[in-house]
Amino acid sequence: MMNQKVKNLWPELEWIKDQLLREKTARTWELALEKSVLSAEDLEKIPFTLLCGPDIKVSFMAHKRCVVHIAKECGEKMNLFFGSDLPVNMDVLIAGAILADVGKLLEYELDKDRNAVQCRYGRLLRHPFSGVSLAEACGVPPEVCHIIAAHAHEGDLVKRTTEAYIVHHADFMAFEPFKNK
Ligand SMILES: [Fe+2]
Repeated sequence: MMNQKVKNLWPELEWIKDQLLREKTARTWELALEKSVLSAEDLEKIPFTLLCGPDIKVSFMAHKRCVVHIAKECGEKMNLFFGSDLPVNMDVLIAGAILADVGKLLEYELDKDRNAVQCRYGRLLRHPFSGVSLAEACGVPPEVCHIIAAHAHEGDLVKRTTEAYIVHHADFMAFEPFKNK
């Protein structure tokens, strides 16, 4: 029952073994797309950040999917080397990585030239907050919502779980180097 558009956007949903969690994760993206001025096609085109100048061509989806791939490999390596000393729940990790930026879809409005710019809602409730709101509306469990809440600087005062640490660092390592390009 997963929405086809969301399935096409996120092949990584298949990595979530728990069927219910996979469906709730997909439903959260579906809800965000329903509420957003952006379409799934826009997400493959718009640059992932406006903070690093006009030359960045990496798309929103390329960036989000890269973070999920980095997070998955990190979790696998930690489970391989640390085992029960630092167990990583792969389903929670992958769902959290897929959902970390879902709230960004509510941060945009279209200006008169149809460029995506930050809207008032997005200024008041940045995506860690709106992401939790969307995810909870779709029944996503708290350990996954925690990853959304704690992934950006908003989470710097939060005691992060292992899975949240991984997503937080995967996200920053795939962003900060662009700032020096
Ligand atoms: Fe983010």
